[in-house]
Amino acid sequence: MLDRSASENGREKLRVVVMVSGGGTNLQAIIDGVKDGTITNTEIVGVISNNRNAYALKRAEKNGIPGMCVSPKDYETRAVFNEKLLEAVDGFAPDLVVLAGYLVVIPPEMIERYRNRMINIHPSLIPSFCGKGYYGLKVHEAALARGVKVVGATVHFVDEGTDTGPIILQKAVNVEQGDTPEVLQRRVMEQAEWKILPRAIDLIANGKVRVEDNRTVILP
Ligand code: GRF
Repeated sequence: MLDRSASENGREKLRVVVMVSGGGTNLQAIIDGVKDGTITNTEIVGVISNNRNAYALKRAEKNGIPGMCVSPKDYETRAVFNEKLLEAVDGFAPDLVVLAGYLVVIPPEMIERYRNRMINIHPSLIPSFCGKGYYGLKVHEAALARGVKVVGATVHFVDEGTDTGPIILQKAVNVEQGDTPEVLQRRVMEQAEWKILPRAIDLIANGKVRVEDNRTVILP
Protein backbone atom coordinates (compact mmCIF):
# COMPACT_ATOMS: atom_id res chain seq x y z
CA MET A 1 0.00 0.00 0.00
CA LEU A 2 1.23 3.45 -0.87
CA ASP A 3 2.01 5.22 2.39
CA ARG A 4 2.34 8.87 1.47
CA SER A 5 1.93 10.12 5.01
CA ALA A 6 5.69 10.36 5.62
CA SER A 7 6.23 12.14 2.32
CA GLU A 8 3.30 14.60 2.60
CA ASN A 9 5.32 16.86 4.84
CA GLY A 10 8.50 16.15 2.92
CA ARG A 11 6.48 16.99 -0.21
CA GLU A 12 8.51 14.47 -2.23
CA LYS A 13 6.78 13.94 -5.56
CA LEU A 14 4.80 10.84 -6.49
CA ARG A 15 6.70 9.11 -9.30
CA VAL A 16 4.16 8.09 -11.95
CA VAL A 17 4.61 5.84 -14.99
CA VAL A 18 1.76 6.00 -17.54
CA MET A 19 1.08 3.02 -19.81
CA VAL A 20 -0.65 3.70 -23.13
CA SER A 21 -1.68 2.05 -26.39
CA GLY A 22 -3.36 4.74 -28.46
CA GLY A 23 -4.09 8.44 -28.80
CA GLY A 24 -3.09 9.31 -25.26
CA THR A 25 -5.85 11.81 -24.44
CA ASN A 26 -5.90 10.51 -20.87
CA LEU A 27 -2.11 10.88 -20.72
CA GLN A 28 -2.57 14.45 -21.98
CA ALA A 29 -5.08 15.13 -19.20
CA ILE A 30 -2.48 13.97 -16.66
CA ILE A 31 0.29 16.06 -18.27
CA ASP A 32 -2.02 19.13 -18.28
CA GLY A 33 -3.11 18.44 -14.69
CA VAL A 34 0.48 18.41 -13.44
CA LYS A 35 1.16 21.64 -15.36
CA ASP A 36 -1.94 23.53 -14.17
CA GLY A 37 -1.75 22.32 -10.57
CA THR A 38 -4.86 20.12 -10.64
CA ILE A 39 -2.46 17.30 -9.82
CA THR A 40 -0.06 18.22 -7.00
CA ASN A 41 3.00 16.52 -5.59
CA THR A 42 3.43 14.40 -8.74
CA GLU A 43 6.02 13.82 -11.48
CA ILE A 44 5.39 11.75 -14.64
CA VAL A 45 8.71 9.91 -14.89
CA GLY A 46 7.96 7.74 -17.93
CA VAL A 47 5.49 6.59 -20.59
CA ILE A 48 5.43 3.02 -21.89
CA SER A 49 3.44 1.85 -24.93
CA ASN A 50 3.01 -1.55 -26.58
CA ASN A 51 2.41 0.31 -29.86
CA ARG A 52 5.37 2.16 -31.35
CA ASN A 53 2.98 4.31 -33.43
CA ALA A 54 0.85 5.38 -30.48
CA TYR A 55 0.32 9.14 -30.65
CA ALA A 56 0.61 9.03 -26.86
CA LEU A 57 4.40 8.56 -27.31
CA LYS A 58 4.47 11.78 -29.35
CA ARG A 59 2.66 13.56 -26.51
CA ALA A 60 5.31 12.32 -24.08
CA GLU A 61 8.13 13.46 -26.37
CA LYS A 62 6.56 16.92 -26.81
CA ASN A 63 6.47 17.28 -23.03
CA GLY A 64 10.00 16.06 -22.37
CA ILE A 65 8.83 12.83 -20.74
CA PRO A 66 10.90 9.68 -21.45
CA GLY A 67 8.83 7.34 -23.61
CA MET A 68 9.48 3.78 -24.70
CA CYS A 69 7.84 0.99 -26.65
CA VAL A 70 7.76 -2.54 -25.22
CA SER A 71 5.80 -4.64 -27.69
CA PRO A 72 4.80 -8.31 -27.38
CA LYS A 73 5.60 -8.57 -31.11
CA ASP A 74 9.29 -8.03 -30.38
CA TYR A 75 9.64 -11.10 -28.15
CA GLU A 76 9.61 -14.85 -28.79
CA THR A 77 7.10 -15.62 -26.05
CA ARG A 78 4.62 -13.81 -23.84
CA ALA A 79 6.66 -14.90 -20.83
CA VAL A 80 9.73 -13.04 -22.15
CA PHE A 81 7.60 -9.98 -22.98
CA ASN A 82 6.15 -10.03 -19.46
CA GLU A 83 9.66 -10.09 -18.00
CA LYS A 84 10.89 -7.24 -20.22
CA LEU A 85 7.78 -5.16 -19.50
CA LEU A 86 8.20 -5.49 -15.74
CA GLU A 87 11.90 -4.65 -16.09
CA ALA A 88 11.00 -1.50 -18.06
CA VAL A 89 8.42 -0.40 -15.49
CA ASP A 90 10.72 -1.11 -12.52
CA GLY A 91 13.43 0.83 -14.31
CA PHE A 92 11.50 4.05 -13.66
CA ALA A 93 11.13 3.20 -9.94
CA PRO A 94 7.48 4.36 -9.95
CA ASP A 95 5.32 4.89 -6.87
CA LEU A 96 2.22 4.57 -9.07
CA VAL A 97 1.53 2.93 -12.44
CA VAL A 98 -1.38 4.42 -14.43
CA LEU A 99 -3.00 2.37 -17.22
CA ALA A 100 -4.43 5.01 -19.56
CA GLY A 101 -5.96 3.23 -22.54
CA TYR A 102 -3.44 0.38 -22.21
CA LEU A 103 -4.75 -2.70 -23.99
CA VAL A 104 -2.24 -5.44 -23.12
CA VAL A 105 -2.88 -7.96 -20.31
CA ILE A 106 -0.78 -7.01 -17.27
CA PRO A 107 1.56 -9.82 -16.13
CA PRO A 108 0.53 -11.44 -12.82
CA GLU A 109 3.97 -10.67 -11.33
CA MET A 110 3.41 -6.97 -12.07
CA ILE A 111 -0.06 -6.99 -10.49
CA GLU A 112 1.47 -8.49 -7.36
CA ARG A 113 4.41 -6.08 -7.23
CA TYR A 114 2.23 -3.00 -7.79
CA ARG A 115 -0.83 -4.11 -5.80
CA ASN A 116 -2.78 -1.00 -4.79
CA ARG A 117 -0.15 1.07 -6.65
CA MET A 118 -1.52 0.50 -10.17
CA ILE A 119 -4.73 2.17 -11.41
CA ASN A 120 -6.82 1.91 -14.58
CA ILE A 121 -9.40 4.17 -16.22
CA HIS A 122 -12.40 2.28 -17.62
CA PRO A 123 -15.02 4.08 -19.76
CA SER A 124 -18.11 2.77 -17.92
CA LEU A 125 -19.66 2.83 -14.46
CA ILE A 126 -18.24 -0.50 -13.23
CA PRO A 127 -19.77 -3.12 -12.76
CA SER A 128 -21.69 -2.25 -15.94
CA PHE A 129 -20.16 -2.89 -19.36
CA CYS A 130 -16.80 -4.11 -18.10
CA GLY A 131 -14.73 -7.28 -18.04
CA LYS A 132 -13.42 -9.34 -20.93
CA GLY A 133 -14.11 -7.83 -24.34
CA TYR A 134 -15.36 -4.48 -23.01
CA TYR A 135 -12.83 -1.84 -24.07
CA GLY A 136 -12.76 1.33 -26.18
CA LEU A 137 -15.75 1.80 -28.48
CA LYS A 138 -17.19 -1.65 -27.63
CA VAL A 139 -18.17 -0.30 -24.19
CA HIS A 140 -20.25 2.50 -25.71
CA GLU A 141 -21.76 0.25 -28.38
CA ALA A 142 -22.99 -2.08 -25.62
CA ALA A 143 -24.38 0.82 -23.56
CA LEU A 144 -26.34 2.16 -26.54
CA ALA A 145 -27.55 -1.34 -27.44
CA ARG A 146 -28.88 -1.79 -23.88
CA GLY A 147 -30.49 1.64 -23.98
CA VAL A 148 -29.07 2.93 -20.68
CA LYS A 149 -29.69 6.64 -19.98
CA VAL A 150 -26.59 7.19 -17.87
CA VAL A 151 -23.01 6.02 -18.53
CA GLY A 152 -19.70 7.25 -17.16
CA ALA A 153 -16.16 6.28 -16.21
CA THR A 154 -14.39 4.56 -13.34
CA VAL A 155 -10.87 4.72 -11.92
CA HIS A 156 -9.95 1.59 -9.98
CA PHE A 157 -6.93 -0.25 -8.60
CA VAL A 158 -5.80 -3.14 -10.79
CA ASP A 159 -6.05 -6.67 -9.41
CA GLU A 160 -5.96 -10.12 -11.02
CA GLY A 161 -9.40 -9.73 -12.57
CA THR A 162 -10.49 -7.57 -15.52
CA ASP A 163 -11.84 -4.22 -14.23
CA THR A 164 -12.46 -5.83 -10.81
CA GLY A 165 -10.12 -3.99 -8.42
CA PRO A 166 -11.19 -1.53 -5.68
CA ILE A 167 -13.03 1.46 -7.17
CA ILE A 168 -11.46 4.85 -6.43
CA LEU A 169 -13.63 7.40 -8.32
CA GLN A 170 -16.59 7.31 -10.71
CA LYS A 171 -18.34 10.05 -12.68
CA ALA A 172 -21.72 9.80 -14.47
CA VAL A 173 -22.46 11.15 -17.95
CA ASN A 174 -25.89 11.43 -19.64
CA VAL A 175 -26.67 9.59 -22.85
CA GLU A 176 -28.27 12.01 -25.34
CA GLN A 177 -30.93 11.18 -27.95
CA GLY A 178 -29.28 10.08 -31.19
CA ASP A 179 -25.84 9.43 -29.68
CA THR A 180 -23.51 7.31 -31.78
CA PRO A 181 -20.83 5.22 -30.02
CA GLU A 182 -18.19 7.72 -31.15
CA VAL A 183 -20.10 10.77 -29.87
CA LEU A 184 -20.83 9.04 -26.57
CA GLN A 185 -17.19 7.93 -26.18
CA ARG A 186 -16.00 11.50 -26.68
CA ARG A 187 -18.48 12.86 -24.11
CA VAL A 188 -17.43 10.23 -21.56
CA MET A 189 -13.77 11.11 -22.14
CA GLU A 190 -14.32 14.88 -21.92
CA GLN A 191 -16.79 14.93 -19.02
CA ALA A 192 -15.56 11.96 -16.99
CA GLU A 193 -12.24 10.27 -17.86
CA TRP A 194 -10.18 13.41 -18.21
CA LYS A 195 -11.58 14.65 -14.87
CA ILE A 196 -11.48 11.64 -12.56
CA LEU A 197 -8.12 10.21 -13.65
CA PRO A 198 -6.16 13.36 -12.73
CA ARG A 199 -8.23 13.69 -9.56
CA ALA A 200 -7.46 10.11 -8.53
CA ILE A 201 -3.73 10.65 -9.06
CA ASP A 202 -3.82 13.84 -6.95
CA LEU A 203 -5.67 12.01 -4.15
CA ILE A 204 -3.09 9.21 -4.18
CA ALA A 205 -0.19 11.68 -4.36
CA ASN A 206 -1.48 13.27 -1.17
CA GLY A 207 -2.12 10.08 0.75
CA LYS A 208 -5.92 10.36 0.59
CA VAL A 209 -6.79 6.87 -0.67
CA ARG A 210 -6.89 3.82 1.58
CA VAL A 211 -7.93 0.27 0.59
CA GLU A 212 -9.93 -1.63 3.21
CA ASP A 213 -11.71 -4.92 2.53
CA ASN A 214 -11.21 -4.53 -1.23
CA ARG A 215 -13.03 -1.18 -1.19
CA THR A 216 -11.48 2.28 -0.99
CA VAL A 217 -11.87 4.95 1.65
CA ILE A 218 -11.18 8.48 0.36
CA LEU A 219 -9.87 10.64 3.20
CA PRO A 220 -11.02 14.29 3.45
C1 GRF B 1 -10.53 5.41 -24.37
O1 GRF B 1 -11.66 4.72 -24.86
C2 GRF B 1 -10.52 5.32 -22.89
O2 GRF B 1 -11.83 5.21 -22.40
C3 GRF B 1 -9.83 4.06 -22.61
O3 GRF B 1 -8.83 3.95 -23.62
C4 GRF B 1 -9.30 4.64 -24.79
C5 GRF B 1 -8.22 5.51 -25.40
O4 GRF B 1 -7.84 6.48 -24.49
N1 GRF B 1 -9.30 4.07 -21.28
P1 GRF B 1 -6.58 7.48 -24.77
O5 GRF B 1 -7.10 8.58 -25.68
O6 GRF B 1 -5.48 6.67 -25.45
O7 GRF B 1 -6.22 7.98 -23.42
